[in-house]
Amino acid sequence: FARGMATSAVRMAAIKNVTVIGGGLMGAGIAQVAAQTGHSVIIVDQTQEILKQSRASIEKSVSRVSKKKFKEDANAGMEFVKKTISRITINTNAEESVKEADLVIEAIVENLDVKKELFGRLDKVAKPSTIFASNTSSLPITDIASSVERRDKFGGLHFFNPVPVMKLVEIVDDHIKNKGGILKVAITQRTDLSAAPARQHYMSFLDEEKGRRSNKQRTQREKNVMDELQELRRKKRRIETDMDELLKSANSDDTYNSLMSFSEALGKTPVTCKDTPGFIVNRLLVPYLVEAVRLVERGDASPRDVDVAMKLGAGYPMGPFELLDYVGLDTTKFIMDGWHEKFPDNPLFNTSEKINKLVEEGKFGVKTGEGFYSYR
Ligand code: CAA
Ligand code: NAD
Repeated sequence: FARGMATSAVRMAAIKNVTVIGGGLMGAGIAQVAAQTGHSVIIVDQTQEILKQSRASIEKSVSRVSKKKFKEDANAGMEFVKKTISRITINTNAEESVKEADLVIEAIVENLDVKKELFGRLDKVAKPSTIFASNTSSLPITDIASSVERRDKFGGLHFFNPVPVMKLVEIVDDHIKNKGGILKVAITQRTDLSAAPARQHYMSFLDEEKGRRSNKQRTQREKNVMDELQELRRKKRRIETDMDELLKSANSDDTYNSLMSFSEALGKTPVTCKDTPGFIVNRLLVPYLVEAVRLVERGDASPRDVDVAMKLGAGYPMGPFELLDYVGLDTTKFIMDGWHEKFPDNPLFNTSEKINKLVEEGKFGVKTGEGFYSYR
């Protein structure tokens, strides 16, 4: 069940129209990068006011990108900004905004029920060919995808903050591989159950029967063999039904390949990983960030000193407290609470009192003007 990149690429239509749901930190960044690379983009959020803020933050960020990209040619830079902005429209109506989409990327609040409700609605109105992707940091893609019929067209596409700068995209692929595995098993079993061994079994029974005298004995033996054959036929039918179900979604390889090509078209480097908590980066990064908070909670050092230490001693571009404020303490809390609930015995996923308190006070970090540090 090897993934046929070349064959699929032929069948795959390139993604042109992208709808990004959620115009916050991540959604705005994803929309920007998609527009910068020639895609037509609609951003959806709850209010016009939020969407205007998204647009303003994109304008600021595209200008930074253009200054770097077109150092020597200010006119080309201005043209780049103008073209990028002109490819983006904003809308508060999600259903209306996905009608023409080739790809819908969800970047709303990190809450399973809210994400499922959204995708459930969109599944009814988007074209059957539209691919759905979630930018979730920590929720299982398979759980989110359970809200839609198009499970074969559902993937995890995880970007990093700030999206215009960070080169990585994680593509979550587990449910596709699982299907491949199940299909393989089904094919093997089907081969085992093929008509040949069953017929052979029946023939040898008939041979044996020639030598038997008692009718009663023969009837019982015959009944057993017939029951066995019937059970085999039932098994075979069940497997065929399962296989039909699986084959309906067998073009998941196309979804994976489309997401790979799309990430590359954005100028990003995609990596693939299983549908496992935190995928690669967050599984390592988030426990490290929260461990830094616990270090400070124990009174071992100040946030400032921890940040200086990790930047100068470990070469990180930001210290853990700067990064927590940058990612958003609300998002970090959603991630930790979800993992803690699922894996209560893993101390790495224990919640932090300090983060809980800051979130309760509305101090989410850079986006609200205050978190561990003040940005006012
Ligand atoms: N838009 C466009 N360009 C931006 C930008 C933005 N939002 N932010 C920074 N830049 C550009 C700057 O213009 C600058 O460009 P030049 O090289 O031309 O000067 C360059 O990036 C570097 O920026 P700065 O000089 O302002 O600051 P810096 O050197 O400290 O870099 C940073 C900023 C790239 C954010 C860097 O600090 C960094 O890499 N921090 C760590 C970020 C990180 O770990 N992100 C992952 C978070 S986890 C996550 O996202 C997953 C999750 O699910 C929670
Ligand atoms: P954010 O709070 O900055 O933005 C979320 C946006 O979604 C808000 O503007 C909100 O109004 C909007 N929204 C909420 N519910 C909505 C709905 N039903 N319909 C339309 N819009 C809705 O959050 P963020 O940091 O951009 O995170 C978004 C997603 O990306 C989360 O799943 C998060 O885990 C993930 N993520 C975050 C980071 C990060 O560093 N912050 C990195 C990678 C992935």
